[in-house]
Amino acid sequence: SRVLVLNGPNLRRLGTREPEIYGATTFADLEALCRETGQRLGLAVEVRQTDDEAQLVRWVHEAADERTPIVLNPAAFTHYSYALHDALAQRTAPLVEVHISNPAAREEFRHTSVVASVATGTVAGFGTMSYVLALQAVAEILAEQER
Ligand code: DQA
Repeated sequence: SRVLVLNGPNLRRLGTREPEIYGATTFADLEALCRETGQRLGLAVEVRQTDDEAQLVRWVHEAADERTPIVLNPAAFTHYSYALHDALAQRTAPLVEVHISNPAAREEFRHTSVVASVATGTVAGFGTMSYVLALQAVAEILAEQER
């Protein structure tokens, strides 16, 4: 099955962006990690990134129309985008929210997620391994649905 791995603002700068928080892994490394994990799990993974809220909302609509599961790092949109929340509420397949850092252990404004309430679940704080765990969760959910 197909899985979309969607990334919000600033995540293309992974590797150079605040490496003490987000690590040295680049966005290209993350893309490769997600694709390889997908291969291992039998998932066709497509990785996308945008700094644009409207683009992200359109991708979420596309996923809803095609019943495609999403692994989503909403980045800063996590904390305030009701447009993203409303788009995700229309989902027709599993949605795993992921974060590289652990937002609960950081500034107060990161303690709120407007995405969590419409997600299947959340993986946070494991560095880029959060994506691996999220893809594993999607694979397990899809396998469970087929049983
Ligand atoms: C993030 C955490 C958010 O608070 C932040 O705005 C990001 C990245 C993470 O992956 O840890 O851009 O989603």
